[in-house]
Amino acid sequence: MLPERSLASALVCSRTGTTASLDDPQFLSPTGAPWLVDYDLSEVDGSELAARWRQRPWSMWRYRELLPHRRDEDRVDLGEGGTPLIRLRRTVPREIEVLLKEESGNPTGSFKARGLAMAVHRARELGAPGVELASAGNAGLALAAYAAAHGLPARVALPEDAPAKIIARCRYHGASVLTAGGTLLEAARRLADFDDGYWNISTLKEPYRVEGKKTMGLELAEQLGWGLPDWIFYPTGGGTGIVGMQRAFDQLEELGLISGRRPRFVAVQMAGCAPIVRAFERGDDVAETWAEPNTRVWGLRVPKAIGDFIILSALRDTDGLAISVKEDEVGPIAERIACEEGMLIGPEGAACLVALERLIASKIIAPGDRVVVFQTGHPANY
Ligand SMILES: Cc1ncc(COP(=O)(O)O)c(C=O)c1O
Repeated sequence: MLPERSLASALVCSRTGTTASLDDPQFLSPTGAPWLVDYDLSEVDGSELAARWRQRPWSMWRYRELLPHRRDEDRVDLGEGGTPLIRLRRTVPREIEVLLKEESGNPTGSFKARGLAMAVHRARELGAPGVELASAGNAGLALAAYAAAHGLPARVALPEDAPAKIIARCRYHGASVLTAGGTLLEAARRLADFDDGYWNISTLKEPYRVEGKKTMGLELAEQLGWGLPDWIFYPTGGGTGIVGMQRAFDQLEELGLISGRRPRFVAVQMAGCAPIVRAFERGDDVAETWAEPNTRVWGLRVPKAIGDFIILSALRDTDGLAISVKEDEVGPIAERIACEEGMLIGPEGAACLVALERLIASKIIAPGDRVVVFQTGHPANY
């Protein structure tokens, strides 16, 4: 009988494959690349595991064996994960099945809750005195909430013009908030002023946020009866979701729960900040920093992704695409979704729907295709 605990076995460097222990705090690997978590699934019967998951509450924590935390009994569950897949009925042609993975019902109103729930749990498990990160907005809010719930002090660095509501809510959760410059790169520099040993859990700078985000891929496959869609549209900033979902699909395939062709990933960015799109179009393996990011779709104002090489290879390996969207295309589609589907969506999810319409119009997405679009945050956060 398989024990009811994590099957995580080691950290592995995403660039070189060298390994490190899960029991020590780790941030970036010696080559400056993100660490990923490896699992020992060699002796595991996938159908036994899936049957066990079915018995547990519909929450991201049901996948305990494929998550890295050690002490499940200490976890803080604010209701993260277990989000619905909602079919769009009127905005898209009926012959194309478009499902919105509606993430705005997560605690703090965005999918950032998944990664931060896991990363803060691991930080506490491994003895962090406090936690900090630089964020475009939603990640800071999720950090503030989970740190509060774990009783850990938190510091959040945000761009100066981050939505006032997010700044106020981070403070409301008791986090200390610093603001600087126009993007999270400048904000991040403010964190260097402190030497109190807080752990920096910015995107992909530690191994566990991606593990929380991985649960989006696990859930999706389970919701589709251990199947996968033809396409996944993902609003891409740091790209943790793409990295995490690829890991999820690799692990489910190793367990024999899924097989066949992988979904084609479509990374969606804004024309005013599209480093991944530019690198994809040029055929580059890494993405240069975007010099003057200019978008009010806050979650996508990320000029540099530390996991750029992983994202770009996931796009190419799945025959995927990278698409940029203009600022004035986002509002009208969000309004149409409100009027035609009865849903309030955030600008990042709306950007994905603009990209989807473009691929439908150009017949790249065809009748019979099944598409999943990540609707990652609630517009009320802004
Ligand atoms: C609502 C929303 N969508 C998408 C993103 C981009 O996510 P990722 O950094 O995982 O690519 C963010 C990041 O801040 C966000 O807040």
